[in-house]
Amino acid sequence: MTELPNDHAPYGVADAWKLLTEWTQSESLRKHSLAVEACVTAMGEAEAARLGLCERERDDFINLYTTTALLHDFDYERHPTPEEHPFVGVRELERLGWPAALRTAILAHAQYSGVPRVTHLDKALFACDELAGFLTACALVKPSRSIADVEVAGVRKKLKDKAFARGVNRDDVLLGAAELGVDLDTQIAFCLEAMKKRAAELGL
Ligand SMILES: [Fe+2]
Repeated sequence: MTELPNDHAPYGVADAWKLLTEWTQSESLRKHSLAVEACVTAMGEAEAARLGLCERERDDFINLYTTTALLHDFDYERHPTPEEHPFVGVRELERLGWPAALRTAILAHAQYSGVPRVTHLDKALFACDELAGFLTACALVKPSRSIADVEVAGVRKKLKDKAFARGVNRDDVLLGAAELGVDLDTQIAFCLEAMKKRAAELGL
């Protein structure tokens, strides 16, 4: 686990997981958080490589992506309304001393918060959130119920099928990739790959 940035603040992956599971009993919401985390962590790793970060700097950078993704919906089970989620959670994170960059990304992943997505982390979280949910839905309709059998072309087809996984906002999926400056197929392939590597943990 990464060392604490100050004496009081929890900041490690184990701390994030503990807080998530304290507030979230739903297995599917825990799985969703892990699926988003798999994708966002992979994006953090790629960005760290692009920036040429190494050693401690790289570890801290990736740790921020991982913990942000794990905690992005941690208040949702207790406070699911747009009046409260993610605002209640972010207040709690601030009280506990979690870093501002994490809190801003969590606020900015809710379109209605009005908080703009500025950093790569802000954009990565938003771009992976709905998409990870959609890829999970794509896996669960396979006879194998396995992410290993999901391919980009099939995902593209299902995105056009409005009756499929209706809870997933297609506009957010498109906007997420556009904000990152990658085409949709690239973003789908990247997240699929990240989730396939963590399939056992995700139950997919
Ligand atoms: Fe989410």
